[in-house]
Amino acid sequence: MAFFTHRFLRSMSSTNSLAIKHITVIGGGLMGAGIAQVAAATGHSVILVDQAEDILKKSLKKIGDSVGRISKKKFIDKPEAGAEFVQQTLQKISTSTDPASAVRNTDLVVEAIVENVNVKQELFKKLDQCAPEKTIFASNTSSLSIGEMASATTRLDRFGGLHFFNPVPLMKLVEVIQTPETSQQTFEALMNFTKALGKKPVACKDTPGFIVNRLLVPYIMEAIRLYERGHGSKEDIDVAMKLGAGYPMGPFELLDYVGLDTSKFIIDGWHKMDPDNPLFAPSALLNKLVDEGKLGKKTGEGFYKYS
Ligand code: 3HC
Repeated sequence: MAFFTHRFLRSMSSTNSLAIKHITVIGGGLMGAGIAQVAAATGHSVILVDQAEDILKKSLKKIGDSVGRISKKKFIDKPEAGAEFVQQTLQKISTSTDPASAVRNTDLVVEAIVENVNVKQELFKKLDQCAPEKTIFASNTSSLSIGEMASATTRLDRFGGLHFFNPVPLMKLVEVIQTPETSQQTFEALMNFTKALGKKPVACKDTPGFIVNRLLVPYIMEAIRLYERGHGSKEDIDVAMKLGAGYPMGPFELLDYVGLDTSKFIIDGWHKMDPDNPLFAPSALLNKLVDEGKLGKKTGEGFYKYS
């Protein structure tokens, strides 16, 4: 009896030790800023890290604007409570340009930097030497292997994936990715963290594109091919999928929203991995637009033009 009590208490204390209160987000781009925002808005302490102060300044501006939009809706009749919510959220976020010191006392690191496995491995290897043993590492990659990143560290059991969706403050889903080495305790901590953010987690294996992108990317590539064959205008294809399938955006609107470079990066990687799979075939039109720097909304032009 005493043995069971002791074991029970020990397991309770180790579960408690994984409660995530303090997080470090590496990468202040659209996704990193969004992740920092939702974590701060739900009471977590956040350090947001990027390479330069001016990038972080822009990230904080983005976060401030987005929290402002949300608070206007959330506190429609209570502007004072809204202003307090904005202030409290922003107060929870500090910034740093030094990843090594930013992870020294953190429960969770969420990486949202450039989609290059070598760069990510290099970062995680460095962080592995600076973060406490308890710290869980997670990547927000859209299409790369979590296991490959984890292999650069000594904490394979405390490594998983947390894949958020754009725009992070509004999209309810988070894919929680477990590699064969991710411990059950880590997986549960990541699931619980996702719920604490007010999001809905789904469990994913470490396979290319997990669930959403494995279905979404071939779909948008097929839409481009349909358009390339002249079987529909991009406007009609967008309207068709919005009104006929209930999607909030058509495939071309979504491509422009997510960034054409992001979709090209994913499809090129998968084509290299599985060149005979017609779902992963590259598109000449997508390649041309990316070559011309027409990356979507962020550059003012993609499939559509934005003023
Ligand atoms: N922060 C805060 N509020 C925001 C916001 C943001 N970043 N973006 C939009 N909003 C608010 C707007 O202010 C607006 O508020 P209001 O109702 O008070 O005016 C409200 O959200 C609705 O926005 P809009 O009127 O501009 O447009 P929509 O009604 O079309 O909603 C959308 C926008 C939520 C983005 C919706 O179009 C949508 O769900 N689109 C699909 C997005 C999607 O599929 N994302 C996944 C992409 S794949 C991905 O991310 C994976 C990656 O790995 C590639």
